[in-house]
Amino acid sequence: MGIAVVGSLNMDMVVTAPRIPLKGETILGKRLDYFPGGKGANQAYALGRLGDRPAMYGCVGSDLFAHRLIDSLAATNVCTDSIRRLDDEQTGVALITVGEADNTIVVVQGANSRVDRTYADTVKSDLLHSDLVMLQLEIPLDTVCYISAFCHQAGVPVLLNPAPAMPLPRELLDQVTWITPNEHEARQIFGHADALDILLRRYPGKLIVTLGKEGSAAATGDGQVLRVPAIRTRVVDTTGAGDTFNAAFAYAISRDHQLMQALLFANTAAGISTEKLGAQNGMPTLAQVLERLP
Ligand code: RIB
Repeated sequence: MGIAVVGSLNMDMVVTAPRIPLKGETILGKRLDYFPGGKGANQAYALGRLGDRPAMYGCVGSDLFAHRLIDSLAATNVCTDSIRRLDDEQTGVALITVGEADNTIVVVQGANSRVDRTYADTVKSDLLHSDLVMLQLEIPLDTVCYISAFCHQAGVPVLLNPAPAMPLPRELLDQVTWITPNEHEARQIFGHADALDILLRRYPGKLIVTLGKEGSAAATGDGQVLRVPAIRTRVVDTTGAGDTFNAAFAYAISRDHQLMQALLFANTAAGISTEKLGAQNGMPTLAQVLERLP
């Protein structure tokens, strides 16, 4: 049944400013844009751009934002049939400031907080028939643990993108097939005691750490640490680069690419995605990734 993404859908309200303001400071911004976003929706959208036909699972409100988010996914080959619309909740929103090619993000969860066990039960059969299930942490952690547990039990591979970072229960780490933190998230989850290479070797083929403009890293079963460089890009906006990485990695690994190839493919897709403003705007097609693949 292909790849299933269970996660958040947000309307991103993006202010472009000369720089990120300091605490307590007011500065003049350049423009305000509304872009479809949310880590879950971004990952589904990125898969759709690559030519996959993923299914998106999550909750939105019944407002105008909801329509725009669902329309943008549906227009990009994503099955949106199981996204639940709630009358008593607002669609999730992310307030994003982009400045000097960096960003800050505040997410108001809204309907994303209602992706609970009851919702998961209604889509459980679909998830158990999927080739791979992708999860992030903008929906309740309890639901992420619940879905991971039943997928693990049924042998359905799970890719967890642990963003935004939070402490995770041991069983969840054991149950997921891949976990893809950035370096900061890896430290929050696994602590600071071990050097990155030691940490990677402890979870060979499972822990994939994204390193921003340094690319990504993972360890193979024989203890070799792969450090795969990023491609050179003219960065406009890094919002959604992590989501593109995750989607492209899932795309490649579900097509039986080797770890090294999957990381190269994911780095390339993520790099390309930073060249346009907005999380989903810059997400590449398969042809665009292949063209820039080192
Ligand atoms: O990963 C980027 C996403 O994080 C944005 O689209 C925003 O909605 C936040 O969820």
